[in-house]
Amino acid sequence: MTLQTEQASDQVETLSPTSLQGQLNRQMIIILDFGSQYSELIARRIRETQVYSEVISYRTTAEQLRQLSPKGIILSGGPNSVYDKGAPLCDPEIWNLGIPVLGVCYGMQLMVQQLGGQVTRAARAEYGKASLLIDDPTDLLTNVEEGSVMWMSHGDSCQALPEGFEILAHTENTPCAAVAHHENKLYGVQFHPEVVHSEGGLALIRNFVYHICECEPTWTTAAFVEEAIREIRAKVGDKRVLLALSGGVDSSTLAFLLHKAIGDQVTCMFIDQGFMRKGEPERLLKLFQERFHIPVEYVNACERFLTQIDGISDPEEKRRRIGHEFINVFEEESRRLGPFDYLAQGTLYPDVIESADTNVDPQTGERVAVKIKSHHNVGGLPKDLRFKLVEPLRKLFKDEVRKVGRSIGLPEEIVRRHPFPGPGLAIRIVGEVTKERLDILREADFIVRQEINQRGIYHDFWQAFAVLLPVRSVGVMGDQRTYAYPVVLRFVSSEDGMTADWSRAPYDLLETISNRIVNEVEDVNRVVYDITSKPPGTIEWE
Ligand code: XMP
Repeated sequence: MTLQTEQASDQVETLSPTSLQGQLNRQMIIILDFGSQYSELIARRIRETQVYSEVISYRTTAEQLRQLSPKGIILSGGPNSVYDKGAPLCDPEIWNLGIPVLGVCYGMQLMVQQLGGQVTRAARAEYGKASLLIDDPTDLLTNVEEGSVMWMSHGDSCQALPEGFEILAHTENTPCAAVAHHENKLYGVQFHPEVVHSEGGLALIRNFVYHICECEPTWTTAAFVEEAIREIRAKVGDKRVLLALSGGVDSSTLAFLLHKAIGDQVTCMFIDQGFMRKGEPERLLKLFQERFHIPVEYVNACERFLTQIDGISDPEEKRRRIGHEFINVFEEESRRLGPFDYLAQGTLYPDVIESADTNVDPQTGERVAVKIKSHHNVGGLPKDLRFKLVEPLRKLFKDEVRKVGRSIGLPEEIVRRHPFPGPGLAIRIVGEVTKERLDILREADFIVRQEINQRGIYHDFWQAFAVLLPVRSVGVMGDQRTYAYPVVLRFVSSEDGMTADWSRAPYDLLETISNRIVNEVEDVNRVVYDITSKPPGTIEWE
């Protein structure tokens, strides 16, 4: 349980009317969240089996669950012990719903305790890998091999099972590693089948989803697109929608869906701040206009943004001003092109689970935007310019957005693009940003991308980019002494951007990039490689 860091959260979306309406016709597995850091991962694993899954609060009542009519319920892990005072409990009526339940770790202990078994502190806690010794290879454990390594993380253990339960598997330290009440379709596993280190974990999840809950594979990209289009039409009617296009996979997919659903009722606005990479604004416009035949309102705000940060070298102030200017331009342009009833946002499912930035109109119960979820995440909208929201991607995880993007023909370079910060190259020029410095960095960055693309190793990196430093150093070229800028190469590997390691890039790649930058980019005479991990460094330099 030490892996589970958060308290059981009440922040997860409780049953909202939209959630209820949207799901009634679709088979789904509900995950009741008791605060495990893996709850979201369970949902993703289920969806990988092409069955829809949602994470909701453990406080959800049996009656609410009955209304949602899921095909199965999973109780997540959590940081508590079931015998703790104030430990999160589920509605005990859940056991009588006749819906199959799988308890994972804390979820299993809760099931055992609430149904009359006994859970106590284990003689020996079990963290990390353990071999699963199978007592009943049918049902939940079909196709899970004897000795499969499963990921354990628990200090408590089941001492006595409730009536009607049987042991399906044990480990050296844990007598009840997997248990079942076959007749009532109640199952529990002490390990975490959802984590990647658990061999056969996905097989177990598939057994639960397909054999026990009798689901069918209905959660597919094509089904999602069809349903999203239907929902957009029903929600928007004949009203107008504004979409701020950034060129990333979320806003591009969103634009495509909206355009397909409501045609020219959606206006796609692309604000060019002047901080994008070489050729990107042109490529984006060409893609939308020529390939997708979606008109884009191009707003050239390059001069404005540059003026705003003229002479500013403090990174936070730079970001603040860029974010603020984004809101100004957005506001002006939306008034010019409007009026609009709705703002389309690329809210994804993890944002919904965290439900950070949401505001609900008390009269209509609808979510309204008081902030633009731009890549800057700053700045509020004026009171008279608050839009209702249309968020067709709010059920999707990032990898699902990529699948949808791919299915509608977004090129791979957008679908699998490295993360790129909202303020763009402005925060990859340390200190003051000038047009001259932007041009230098754009050329250096272009060479980096060209070389790694040519070698087909773009996806070996989480990010790989160039940074320009506002200092000059001495060099020599031919017979000439030079005094010019250094460029830093920042190549990192990472899972999620929260931590990162510097990439061990091949020397010959670095050599080629360095030679090309120094020879081809004017006013650069030195290239250095950043070998700092995060922490203590950050990925970006500002
Ligand atoms: P740091 O530099 O904090 O970056 O290690 C972590 C990840 O976040 C990206 N990043 C941003 N993304 N707006 C964004 O949308 C921003 O202002 C921003 N700043 C950093 C960064 O590229 C890395 O992937």
